Amino acid sequence: MVDSKKQRVVAIDGYSSTGKSTIAKGLASRLGLVYIDSGAMYRAVAYYALENGLISDDGKINTEKLYDALDTIEIDFHFNSETGKSETLLNAENVENQIRTPRVAAVVSEVSALSRVRSFLVFQQQKMGEKGGIVMDGRDIGTVVFPHAAVKIFTTAAEDIRVKRRFDELRSKGDSSDMESVRENLLHRDHIDENRADSPLRRAEDAIVLDNSQMSMDEQLEWAVRLVQDRMA
Ligand code: DC
Repeated sequence: MVDSKKQRVVAIDGYSSTGKSTIAKGLASRLGLVYIDSGAMYRAVAYYALENGLISDDGKINTEKLYDALDTIEIDFHFNSETGKSETLLNAENVENQIRTPRVAAVVSEVSALSRVRSFLVFQQQKMGEKGGIVMDGRDIGTVVFPHAAVKIFTTAAEDIRVKRRFDELRSKGDSSDMESVRENLLHRDHIDENRADSPLRRAEDAIVLDNSQMSMDEQLEWAVRLVQDRMA
């Protein structure tokens, strides 16, 4: 049933490597929604900080300089018709590959725990969703960015399965990180995402949990399509 007070937004939250973006992309292409990867925006800010010497080798972030720089940071998405994929632009430079590296993964949770980084990006995410018709994935989409989203999904999966998914993804990109360092980074990020003071990762009360440990991609997508069609018809 459509609830007129709800925004025509699908919010997908969950731990790292629980298949949020795969479901979100599938929903976008099946239902003609625009997909927005909010994690890519945090990754782009983390990449900017690394490239501009705002994070020291021991991981300390120069928050004052980063906050000063926020107004000069522009993040956009553009659709590459050759690959059929969306790409992240940082100040007009295509950084899609650079933001997916272990180097960025190692610092992104610390960067995204900073309140001013969050408010800067949440404002932009809310603007992107003003007209509805979007599916956005992240950690605080159903709780903070779109508390009135018509559909909220919270994804989860067994730890070993998540580690294997992330490991395979990195391998397919030519990265040679071993399984244990992948596990360490994943659990480290979960810990920070769940325990930060500002908008920690939580299941929204009205979010539906999808444990996809034992589900194929097709099964998950069919489940999600039915849910969205029912709530956003
Ligand atoms: O979804 P991802 O792994 O690309 O996200 C990268 C990091 O960004 C993740 O460790 C937590 C953070 N993030 C966040 O704090 N809030 C969001 N809405 C999305 C991502």
